Amino acid sequence: MIFYRVCKITDIPVMGSRIVNLGPESAALFRLYDGSVLAIENACPHKGGPLSEGIVSGNSVICPMHNTRVDLRDGTVEGPDTGSVRTYEVKIEGEEVWIRL
Ligand code: FES
Repeated sequence: MIFYRVCKITDIPVMGSRIVNLGPESAALFRLYDGSVLAIENACPHKGGPLSEGIVSGNSVICPMHNTRVDLRDGTVEGPDTGSVRTYEVKIEGEEVWIRL
């Protein structure tokens, strides 16, 4: 698996997201208050809602469709549904954000 440079860290709003399209998949990168960037699959395990449009709370994102809460660190659904989404390894070098595929 290889790291690909996707954007500058300033391209991602704090407590917001940016979408990266990966062939047929779409990943959502989230920038947290502590400066970390976490990436998960941009499809809610409930009914495929766009997690990139959710509200970030702590280390989680809340799906905008029906409020499923997903942990950005490991992709686990915290509730009210169950399941998980894929996570992607991210690294930051200087201002550049890289994602591993
Ligand atoms: S599609 Fe995300 S909670 Fe329903």
